[in-house]
Amino acid sequence: MRNIVVIGAGTMGNGIAHVFAQNGFETTLNDLNEIQLQKAKATILKNLDRQLLKGKVSEELKLKTLGRLQFVTQANRAIKQADLIIEAATENFEIKKKIFNDVMPIAPSHCVFATNTSSISIDKLAVEISQPERLIGMHFFNPVPVMQLVEIIKGEKTTPEVTKKTEELTLKLNKTGVVVNDAPGFISNRILMPMVNEAIEALSQGVAGVKEIDTIMQLGMAHPMGPLRLADLIGLDVCKSILEIMHSGLENDKYAPTPLLVKRVDEGKLGIKSGIGFYNYTIDPKNPTVDFKG
Ligand SMILES: NC(=O)c1ccc[n+]([C@@H]2O[C@H](COP(=O)([O-])OP(=O)(O)OC[C@H]3O[C@@H](n4cnc5c(N)ncnc54)[C@H](O)[C@@H]3O)[C@@H](O)[C@H]2O)c1
Repeated sequence: MRNIVVIGAGTMGNGIAHVFAQNGFETTLNDLNEIQLQKAKATILKNLDRQLLKGKVSEELKLKTLGRLQFVTQANRAIKQADLIIEAATENFEIKKKIFNDVMPIAPSHCVFATNTSSISIDKLAVEISQPERLIGMHFFNPVPVMQLVEIIKGEKTTPEVTKKTEELTLKLNKTGVVVNDAPGFISNRILMPMVNEAIEALSQGVAGVKEIDTIMQLGMAHPMGPLRLADLIGLDVCKSILEIMHSGLENDKYAPTPLLVKRVDEGKLGIKSGIGFYNYTIDPKNPTVDFKG
């Protein structure tokens, strides 16, 4: 594997492209939106500079990483030579289905197709595409350059060869891959999202404030950050979509997004990416203030 195409240059896409390029892969990052591509480029540069400052990359590796990256709104040329195409586009079934149906006829016959979806069923997507045996879930975590895990989701039709290639590729990124079977939310979000949803529900009932809930989970459960701060990092819209997919896919009301989460998303308070979620990041992003009046 040498040539990688990443589709979608949002929160996850820029991080995924960053780690592939840093580990020696020729990487093309594609988005429909030129502004997103420019933002992704700036984020990758900022993150590389931070790694440089911490002594985690050399100046030479930083420049090589940047040299291996292309940012394009039209990816057909790169798709024709791709060994792996990973989509990290908006969490929406129809969008992902269209992406795979567009790229599959153009990509080489050995190409692996991966989705970074947090919750959409690989098997459900597989039914809608022409080469289901080459589809696999490659679920990275945010922030991608920092987080060690890749949850690898094999569908019923995914071949053992594709699973093996994906595990080997994950190792080349210096990450740990854990293979799981397909189910809505897989393992990570199946366990994480009900906790986030419950934290928001407890907040809306006035049981405790934003800071108090986060501090309890940080200090009492040794979580590196509280569930509300984590929801802001993931994106409240992404949390809502994941819960909706688990709600319908697992047919259980306990996964229904709580009304306060839905309200925040409707108000455009999406977390770090929009500047405001349960915290306000617009003044000092590293020390955000609480943005919630119960
Ligand atoms: N945010 C997280 O913490 C997180 C963690 C793990 C996995 N994920 C998953 O990663 C995926 C992306 O999430 P995100 O948070 O980066 O979303 P995001 O909203 O930040 O970015 C999505 C990007 O996809 C682009 N896009 C939409 N349709 C496209 C198309 N047809 N072709 C090219 N680009 C297209 C949008 O312009 C946008 O830039 C989702 O499936 C999400 O569930 C997110």
